[in-house]
Amino acid sequence: MAGEKHLSGSQLSATARAVIHQKMADHGDQMNELVWAVVLLDRAETARIATAIAEQPRLARPSTGDATELNTALPPRYFELQDQLRDRARSLAAAAKDWDSRVVARSYGQLAETCVACHEVYLKPR
Ligand code: HEC
Repeated sequence: MAGEKHLSGSQLSATARAVIHQKMADHGDQMNELVWAVVLLDRAETARIATAIAEQPRLARPSTGDATELNTALPPRYFELQDQLRDRARSLAAAAKDWDSRVVARSYGQLAETCVACHEVYLKPR
């Protein structure tokens, strides 16, 4: 039930999961607000929210092999997708500034693709 969509214990420590969980709650709210900002052609809101996503603190790549380090539990793919999310959020913020609805809609779609790509790796379909 509640646990099924979560990572298995072998992939992620309870601490890492708690940190990611809070980040994801924020992402969920942001994507909801963002879809309306895009759909209603709200340039300032789109840029603001996309920038907030881009600037959200990311989990740092592990700097040592120390198993006690929070992030050693995460595979390289996690960090790649985390970076891709930042890059695509930046592109959306940039697209919002010189608004072209087709470019903005496409950028929103690409941002959403990154959410899905990471969940494809980490969440089980419900
Ligand atoms: C780099 C990987 C990654 C990216 C990118 C990512 N997520 Fe997640 N997401 C996760 C992981 C891992 C979990 C499961 C966390 C857990 O076990 O609670 C998750 C879970 C969630 C959840 C469910 C939280 C819960 O209640 O369990 C939401 C909502 C969510 N993500 C939203 C988003 C949105 C929206 C985006 C895109 C803006 C996004 N995520 C991008 C990795 C990612």
